[in-house]
Amino acid sequence: MSIIAGIAREDAGLTLPDAKRLMVQSRLARRMRSVGCLSFDDYIALLTASPDAEERRALISVLTTNVTSFFREAHHFETLRTQVLPALLREAKRGRRLRFWSAGCSTGEEPYSLAMLLLALDPMASDYDIRILATDIDPKVLSKAKSARYEAASLSALPDFYEQALRATRQEDGSLVMPDSVRRLVTFRQLNLHAQWPMKGRFDAILCRNVLIYFDFEHQSALWPRFRASLGTEGWLFLGHSERIHPIETSGFIQTGVTTYRRTDARPVGTPERED
Ligand SMILES: C[S@@+](CC[C@H](N)C(=O)[O-])C[C@H]1O[C@@H](n2cnc3c(N)ncnc32)[C@H](O)[C@@H]1O
Repeated sequence: MSIIAGIAREDAGLTLPDAKRLMVQSRLARRMRSVGCLSFDDYIALLTASPDAEERRALISVLTTNVTSFFREAHHFETLRTQVLPALLREAKRGRRLRFWSAGCSTGEEPYSLAMLLLALDPMASDYDIRILATDIDPKVLSKAKSARYEAASLSALPDFYEQALRATRQEDGSLVMPDSVRRLVTFRQLNLHAQWPMKGRFDAILCRNVLIYFDFEHQSALWPRFRASLGTEGWLFLGHSERIHPIETSGFIQTGVTTYRRTDARPVGTPERED
């Protein structure tokens, strides 16, 4: 098992604590069956022999947890709806570009929720210069995300405001398909958070939620300065419910809400722009 844990850490920064041993073993057993390996040794041999580290990538895909849902942790979407997006959309209408990043987007519910929210706030949003970059290490979840097709039930029981956002979606054969206006706002790319980031511009908001929890302290800590450098001065960083920037004092971030962070040099919401 230590070989598997080593690969998980090296390739994806994932930590596999003892508490997850049974879960890891059962996922591994399923993977071994599907590639026809009868013993663990056979599987290790396959891992080392597979060309282009193909099986290592498949292993990471097996080990990652992809649970997600539309408008998950709805308080962040409330912050976006009330404090972040109205002013940004006014600027976008005047020609300013807006960039968002859903880092660890899994099957796409998170970036599509943001796209639906943008469109609910301004039906012209997909005509402005707005992009949501949605990235994940796992190509399998990305191909599901790109298909933009979900179970109809996955969008039930949402607060009133979001019900409106959902009117934009349509149903085909009992499933739910994101309309073009929503899809046009989102670009999916494969990206390992611990590798180089090819993006050049700065983001207005980064959602990296329920991803860092799978990384050890060292891999988490390495990301704070990178997120900070990728955010515009007035940007926002949203983490998952059990994730925290730690230690916050030296991170260059301040906490402004539940798992909600801004750069220390950001202006408080509602203050006028600086002259310089
Ligand atoms: C639990 S999902 C979170 C989805 C969404 N952000 C949410 O909160 O609902 C975690 C995602 O992180 C991705 N992930 C894990 N390690 C990663 C890494 N090193 N780089 C990029 N994505 C990673 C997994 O593939 C998985 O899809």
